[in-house]
Amino acid sequence: MTIETLINLAYVLAAGLFIFGLKLLSHPSTARKGNSVSAVGMFVAVVVTLLDQQIISYHYIFIGILIGGLYGAWKARSVQMTQMPEMVSLFNGFGGAASLLLGWATVSGMDMSSSTYNQAFVFITVLLTLLIGGITFSGSIVAWGKLSGKLSSKAFIFTGLRELSIFHLVAMVALGYLFVAQPTNEIWLYCIIALGLSFGLWATISIGGADMPVVIALLNSYSGIAASAAGLAVGNTILIVTGLLVGASGLILTNIMCKAMNRSLMNVLLSGFAKPIEQGEVITGEIKVLSPQDAFYVLEAAQAVLVVPGYGMAVAQAQHAVRELHTLLEENGCTVDYAIHAVAGRMPGHMNVLLAEADVPYDQLYEMDEVNPRMENYDVVIVIGANDVVNPAAKEMKGSPIYGMPVIEAYRAKTVFVLKRSANAGFAGVDNPLFFKDNTRMILGDAKETINSLIREFGD
Ligand code: TAP
Repeated sequence: MTIETLINLAYVLAAGLFIFGLKLLSHPSTARKGNSVSAVGMFVAVVVTLLDQQIISYHYIFIGILIGGLYGAWKARSVQMTQMPEMVSLFNGFGGAASLLLGWATVSGMDMSSSTYNQAFVFITVLLTLLIGGITFSGSIVAWGKLSGKLSSKAFIFTGLRELSIFHLVAMVALGYLFVAQPTNEIWLYCIIALGLSFGLWATISIGGADMPVVIALLNSYSGIAASAAGLAVGNTILIVTGLLVGASGLILTNIMCKAMNRSLMNVLLSGFAKPIEQGEVITGEIKVLSPQDAFYVLEAAQAVLVVPGYGMAVAQAQHAVRELHTLLEENGCTVDYAIHAVAGRMPGHMNVLLAEADVPYDQLYEMDEVNPRMENYDVVIVIGANDVVNPAAKEMKGSPIYGMPVIEAYRAKTVFVLKRSANAGFAGVDNPLFFKDNTRMILGDAKETINSLIREFGD
């Protein structure tokens, strides 16, 4: 058996492990195992690629592994759970940057006089690598800024944005053609890199907070497509396969997010081309604040409670307290369900991960479409640090940026408790009429502290 056959067999093994790992990742109970299986696949792929004779110098590679490995291990141990979404965004961005650099290195090290390969094909794949890699990198950095609060989550729209976007698209086609036609002229290479980076920046910055889940899933997919194009450019099978797996799963996730937001992908992507949205109506009314002590009396009498968690539960790290309250309510003869909106929190599955960590049984978690039809049956809906995902403006206020987005219709329950620190807007920056409804009571303060106060009331 030749070394080449061995390498290819190892690549098939690695690809099989990735696919099996992805399958396991599709359920919370097997997700941890899926991560380990995929990590073994990646280890096999990296070792085999290092053994491949195409490697130029091991010195640089080991220095890179050492620096990256140490930094990664430190970061993995020190990152707060609430910082995970922005960390995932950075991962996507670095994936794009790696592909961009690989594409760049490929053209830089090329013997242009060689006629042993189809040059046009290689340059088209390099072009795609540079453009998609650049868009992924700068787009993910903007997403990281928005998720970490370093940039405003609102859409940054200005006069001329539409023209700027059209200019980028036209320039990509024109300069792409020149790059493939005259690969020896380095100026086209740098123009393409600059264009990809610039397009990613403007395309992402002009998208509003509520649509960010779609953008993040799409950037994740782009990072895979860029890697796959890089694999085609350098002729590496495992890079093509891995890139396609990431690209395809990212696209499936994008589709799920689009459905959750009731948006078409084009609608989200072309928001920079659209006219600025009119401001919604001003909400008037009175907010009714309740103390945890008074809230306890209502909960003590409740027969059916629905918990709606959101990003604030993650910030407050209230999931274990929520589980404790859940047990006390059940011991008091009350049923407890959870409603999970697909975009609650800041990353796909964010609430599921937190609730699983607190041992909340999966069979008590329901999707929005399952709870909305029976909302009237709940005596109390406890909204814990959620805001946009329960915002009735999505149904009631035509001018609102979230108009048309499906939400958990908590306002239709008999009583709604909203646990948050103020009446401020959520990530989408849209005021919430739920706070002013007759059946809503706001219990102001940190969600964990409020729930602990409720738990203490049950104990007294
Ligand atoms: P948000 O609308 O962001 O609302 C979270 C609320 O939590 C805030 O209004 C905040 O209000 C409250 N909060 C923060 N810290 C708290 C604490 N310690 N105790 C109690 N409350 C606290 O969250 P959501 O309803 O989960 O909606 C998610 C939003 O993020 C959507 O707009 C979605 O499109 C977007 N997004 C989602 C994702 C994914 S993939 N899930 C990715 C990117 C963006 P106070 O400041 O008043 O306390």
